[in-house]
Amino acid sequence: MASYWWKDAIIYQIYPKSFKDTNHDGVGDLRGIIESLNYIKELGVNTLWLNPIFISPQIDNGYDVSNYYAVDEIFGTLEDVEELIEKAHALDLRIIFDLVLNHTSNQHPWFQEALKGKDNIYRDYYLWEDAAQDGSAPNNWESFFGGSVWEYDTHSRQYYFHLFAKEMPDLNWKNPEVQKSMVDIAKFWLSKGIDGFRLDAFIHMVKDDFSLNVPNIASGEIALAEQYYANLPEVRVYLEEFISELRKVKPDIFIVGEAASATPKLALDYIGENLCSTVISFDHIQDREIIENPLIPKGLGPKTLNVSDFKKRMISWQTDLKAGQQPTLYWNNHDMPRLVSRFGNDEAYRVKSSQSLAAAMYLLSGIPVLLYGEEIGMKNLKISDISAFQQPTAKEQYNQLLANDFSKEEALKMIASINKEASRGGMQWTADKYSGFSDYGCWSGVNIETAFNVQAEKDDPNSILTFYQELLRLKKDDIFQKGKTEFIQTSDNLIAYKRILADEEAIVVCHVTEEPTDVPDWLSSLEDNYQVVMSSFDYKMADMMQPYDYIIVSK
Ligand code: NOJ
Repeated sequence: MASYWWKDAIIYQIYPKSFKDTNHDGVGDLRGIIESLNYIKELGVNTLWLNPIFISPQIDNGYDVSNYYAVDEIFGTLEDVEELIEKAHALDLRIIFDLVLNHTSNQHPWFQEALKGKDNIYRDYYLWEDAAQDGSAPNNWESFFGGSVWEYDTHSRQYYFHLFAKEMPDLNWKNPEVQKSMVDIAKFWLSKGIDGFRLDAFIHMVKDDFSLNVPNIASGEIALAEQYYANLPEVRVYLEEFISELRKVKPDIFIVGEAASATPKLALDYIGENLCSTVISFDHIQDREIIENPLIPKGLGPKTLNVSDFKKRMISWQTDLKAGQQPTLYWNNHDMPRLVSRFGNDEAYRVKSSQSLAAAMYLLSGIPVLLYGEEIGMKNLKISDISAFQQPTAKEQYNQLLANDFSKEEALKMIASINKEASRGGMQWTADKYSGFSDYGCWSGVNIETAFNVQAEKDDPNSILTFYQELLRLKKDDIFQKGKTEFIQTSDNLIAYKRILADEEAIVVCHVTEEPTDVPDWLSSLEDNYQVVMSSFDYKMADMMQPYDYIIVSK
């Protein structure tokens, strides 16, 4: 692949609703992002990814778009976008927008037209199917948001397909008009000066034959059917056509494809010159339940990183991609719980576990993607009402926990530990009420612990924020950009690797658990020509690594 600016991108993900509210309505806005640009610049990232800001009924926080050509008024105006792009570019920060290709809102005019009947010219923008012979849904495929992927339209007496909420009908990518309409939308935003897109859920753009059913499922039951609606071969064809059109108008466009279930093998097919620049996969995010407690529904018990699995997968991501293909490096995003609460310890070791895990991830080869607030060690949001969780099983799990004598707080904490809502709390800027996110409140809630926030951390040499700034400075060094990665075999309390570039070498060793762990012999006996770059302990003197100790040395 040609060498583009984004080969050394470091992305900061902003969930606009939760970042900074300047118009006193409890919802973050574009002006809030504009006001924060200097902070973002000083953090050391160079690219912003904004979750969707287009007009939307907000059934899925903007992933249900009803007008792709305009900014939702909760976020601001087109002028605000233009100002944001201009001011970001002046600071040498690039911006990518989230583009939802797979579906629209049911309020989108295309769908409203399609609902008018089988002969409407927009009918074929979506996926329609007759009922099965017994009148039930066309097949037994389950939607990612629960229930069938099929919703019945009484007017036309057909079902339409939705992989997510029923208010988010899937587009028919086989229709050339759909392909063209999406290219036009993307070109419109490129003409406003943005630098690229994160392509939402693109791996689902193509569906298999609707007559297929997931085998071995009882009649009347449904099941997730990834084999029929994820990563089908034609996805790559549509992706390539779409991106080549965009590259014609913006040759250095940055495309981050969300490919949740991609393995490195699939990523080989999705990353390329007229394909994605990189992909976001969920493959390496692996947790392990520490104790199986019969009183806790499966998956809700205390969990930790499955270090051995993580390493195996990361080794593959580091070594199996071709020259010029880069993975993304991330620990959390708006669809999953926050890093320090999930894989670290957000009480006793909040600072050190945040730091060690960050070093373990971001000095690998690839493009870091930080979730807003991660850099100050924000925790899972404490949610006090079960109805705030969208996952269909949440209520049932909650009732089961209460029936098994867990307190309301314990039950909510466990549910937050696996749910996306926990990551969407208001950004903690100050110790003020509503954490400086707003003077009004926050749509999702803010953490009540205000002791850690940007203001408190920015001048503290030992804070998570200062650590992130140093780490990201380091990440820009050639060795961490271009060096080869070699994992070092260690116990599963440690993640350790070398980066090698010509005769330079850096070694990163991170303790990622709380278990007592010896300083490995090879580390304490390193030759004297290694210099300590960042470290939380004296590797020559100490026998043991304390929980979440880390060290980076280089020669
Ligand atoms: C992936 C997004 O990250 C998620 O938040 C959204 O619900 C789905 N795609 C549907 O657009």
